[in-house]
Amino acid sequence: MKKLYIETVGCQMNLLDSELVVAALRKEGYELTGSTDEADTVLFNTCSVRQHAEDKIYSALGRLKDAKRAMPDKVIGVMGCMAQKDQRLIFRRAPYVDIVVGPGQLHQVPQLVREARSKPGGQRLEVSLGRTDGKADAIKRSHESFDPLRDPTMRPTPFQAYVRIQIGCDKFCTYCIVPSVRGPEQSRPPSQVLAEARQLAGEGCKEVVLLGQTVNSWRHTEDGRAWRFSDLLYALHEVDGIERIKFVTSYPKDMTDDVLRAVRDLPKACKYLHVPAQHGSDEQLRRMKRGYTIADYREMHDRAKRWMPDVAITSDFIVGFSGETEGDFQQTMDLVRECRFKNSFIFKYSERPGTKAADRLPDDVPDEVKRRRNNELLALQNQISEEDNQRFLGARVGVLVEGPSKAAVKAGRVGGEGPLQLTGRTMCDRIVVFEGNPRQIGQTLPVAVYDANAHTLFGEVVTEHAGPELFQLAGSA
Ligand code: SAH
Ligand code: SF4
Ligand code: F3S
Repeated sequence: MKKLYIETVGCQMNLLDSELVVAALRKEGYELTGSTDEADTVLFNTCSVRQHAEDKIYSALGRLKDAKRAMPDKVIGVMGCMAQKDQRLIFRRAPYVDIVVGPGQLHQVPQLVREARSKPGGQRLEVSLGRTDGKADAIKRSHESFDPLRDPTMRPTPFQAYVRIQIGCDKFCTYCIVPSVRGPEQSRPPSQVLAEARQLAGEGCKEVVLLGQTVNSWRHTEDGRAWRFSDLLYALHEVDGIERIKFVTSYPKDMTDDVLRAVRDLPKACKYLHVPAQHGSDEQLRRMKRGYTIADYREMHDRAKRWMPDVAITSDFIVGFSGETEGDFQQTMDLVRECRFKNSFIFKYSERPGTKAADRLPDDVPDEVKRRRNNELLALQNQISEEDNQRFLGARVGVLVEGPSKAAVKAGRVGGEGPLQLTGRTMCDRIVVFEGNPRQIGQTLPVAVYDANAHTLFGEVVTEHAGPELFQLAGSA
């Protein structure tokens, strides 16, 4: 058996891409290893969204230099967004890398690895066309994603699966590299998405997570019928076996009434919306070219909460973007206080070469100020997340069990028969940890919550009729 080491950074798109590449290489007789020393092939699936994500990969590559000298037929490959962005620069910085493959060429990985193994020495580069490197159709085609038939054994759990419904992005927020590395926005046809969901359900998958950079902007005309995103949700709801439908990431402007209505009315739709605001100041949103104002965001947020009082809304924020004053930053703090997000991902602005912001807007907030603002916002969000989770004390929630908890994995208590700490999620995407046993993985169980911190609910499986002390939070089960 040949051994594959794969390391993935970045967003869910990359997790899905890695899953598909691993599946393809398993067919070629590979098995996974956790050690780069042992591996015949080492692959990095990379992200360019922030400098830090790139630095991490370049240092990991640096550590492989000696290993490659000792074992010259070890194949080293760099895939994903940084491969598309840096291309031959990767060979210059790490000359022992054998293959560089963009996100649109991942179907070629097995062949490229095979070639690298049989004819060592040559460097192979396969990437998509740049946004201005040809006719629109050719550019689009070159970015088409890799969505082959699925193999349930390749997923962390066979009960959950990502389903890509949209690739690329055309929003061009000024700070963001994604439109240039993932190419033009393209929606996958509903017939393909539905066929994939049916196949997944047939293999025992219970939860699908629809993926797109602005997933709720998905639309597609097929056989003369114009589909909106909400139509796709209704159609997916009909797929037998699928119990939960989630989608990330939503774009605030496209959170239209029909989408909210579908989430509210469809029992299988998770009451969870990831709708990044990015900032609390209109001036910053304008510089970011996000295409909405704080008043627009607030209106969307209030509408969602009015229609679904228990919906969980989460956000992303950038601190220290070009020109951000203390007053601007305080407006982000105010927005977080007002919206009380379930949680937020907070990022220090990282200038990305080739973006509009890098060309036109100075990266003028000092790093220590970025760091301080990051910590302040994080502390506020954590306090809100904890208070929000405390509401669940004493409540009974429905948990789709995903597998052993992180603590159980760390303690090496996986694979046996006995009791085990398990983790899963509620319909509103809250993480729940409880004692259970391996055969409960994949089931949806009632769990009574007895403790909560900012990130996790702790509970016990309810095995008998729930007593009066257990009440149910509306929409949370
Ligand atoms: N399509 C999604 C986000 C994709 S990138 C959306 O529009 O919401 C994930 C997150 O990374 C973004 O939401 C943003 O908060 C952050 N991000 C993107 N570019 C960044 C940059 N240059 N510096 C810091 N954070 C960035
Ligand atoms: Fe980047 Fe904006 Fe597209 Fe999100 S919507 S991927 S932040 S350009
Ligand atoms: Fe990173 Fe590419 Fe995703 S840049 S955030 S891995 S689309």
